[in-house]
Amino acid sequence: MSTPSRSGVFDKATDRLVEQFTESVSFDHELYAQDVAGSIAHSHMLAKVGVITADEQQQIERGLLEIRAEIAAGNFELRQDLEDIHMHIERALIDRLGDVGRKLHSGRSRNDQVATDFRLWVRDAIDAIDESVVELQRAFVSRCERDADVVLPGYTHLQRAQPVLAPHYWLAYCEKLERDRERLHDCRRRVNISTLGTAALAGTSLPIDREDVARRLDFEGVSANSIDSSSDRDFVLETAFVLTLIAEHLSTLAEEWVLWSTVEFNFIKLPEEFCTGSSIMPQKINPDVMELIRGKTARVIGNLQALLVLVKGLPLAYNRDLQEDKPQLFDSVDTVKACLDIATPVVRGAELRRDSIEAGLERGYLDATTFMEYLIRRGIPQRTAHHLVGQLVRTAIDKGVSLAELPLAEFQQAHADLDETVYDVLGTSNAINAFVSYGSTAATEVAKEVARWIEKLE
Ligand code: ARG
Repeated sequence: MSTPSRSGVFDKATDRLVEQFTESVSFDHELYAQDVAGSIAHSHMLAKVGVITADEQQQIERGLLEIRAEIAAGNFELRQDLEDIHMHIERALIDRLGDVGRKLHSGRSRNDQVATDFRLWVRDAIDAIDESVVELQRAFVSRCERDADVVLPGYTHLQRAQPVLAPHYWLAYCEKLERDRERLHDCRRRVNISTLGTAALAGTSLPIDREDVARRLDFEGVSANSIDSSSDRDFVLETAFVLTLIAEHLSTLAEEWVLWSTVEFNFIKLPEEFCTGSSIMPQKINPDVMELIRGKTARVIGNLQALLVLVKGLPLAYNRDLQEDKPQLFDSVDTVKACLDIATPVVRGAELRRDSIEAGLERGYLDATTFMEYLIRRGIPQRTAHHLVGQLVRTAIDKGVSLAELPLAEFQQAHADLDETVYDVLGTSNAINAFVSYGSTAATEVAKEVARWIEKLE
């Protein structure tokens, strides 16, 4: 018998080269459990509407479960001439059941079948990624109490800017990851729609019940337009995009901690179990894990790019190009999951180098902005105050001192109204204590946020 997709219209068998070139089973075997689940649901529905008998449905279901067990156990031969996992499973069923097996494909096509299987797979992948994101958030939150009193120099343009509390820093990552979670959940709503029964592109003349299949597969609804849903890969692109943003967020962390672990910064000690050595330089403790998180982000971005280009310019509805959607998304899911799962113990295990951080805190004029705001509170217009503090910083740089080390005469020369209370606001610890605004690094604000996050992640 020829392959199931080759009807009586052909005189000649498929060329071997074509079989090799067009097969997808080498990667879509990943969908076998989803394919079996989809087929079982479909068979129940076919029995319900009377296309097959209850007995035939039972034979089909039993056969499919046996096939699934064989695949799971590695006792199932994958052959290029059977193209994809869908045809492998159908062929194995026909080998077992003969004509009963030949009835399963009624009212569906591989076009809606592959879309449905992939939706089921992506739904599970989203849930797994979501769990890993939460674990990373927990790792950051677990640091917040430990590092509650650590003041870090905050940077803009990678130049010292203003002091921030370490927990404020950690919760910045939690916020980014929380938006990633929201995107995952939102995307999941659109993934979780059944396309089964839209058939090749136009639907079917058989009396199928699409709602019934959807319910059996825990889909939240059925797609409304068969042309759209047999060709739609938005759910793949969206998922790839959400994964890309997660990877970008991890890459920011990775880059930052690579920098922070240098002798030059000396802010952080990465856990040794997650560092590597050099084969020639015995002193090296390298942050390879963080570098690879940063590096693997490139692959995830590339996968998104490939998917966007893949669907660009395809006419409606199913086109074979769409088969190429799986390797990219599989790779993005695996890569981002691996990055999340290795970032988590690194975040938990890293130690801030408190002494070194503290020793450098008076460098870089981290108090300049809150000093300017003190002048604003004394009635000096912001632009004037900004200029004036800039001049004072210039003087301090020239003398090689901090603002707090300048004599009062310098301040009074800059502005006649200034008195010795300037020293109450100068210096990094006064600066960090000056913050009050909602969402700022003010200790009271940060404490509230830490409490909110602890409760949220419980
Ligand atoms: N192997 C195909 C894929 O993954 C299955 C759908 C094939 N449909 C078709 N009409 N050739 O996209």
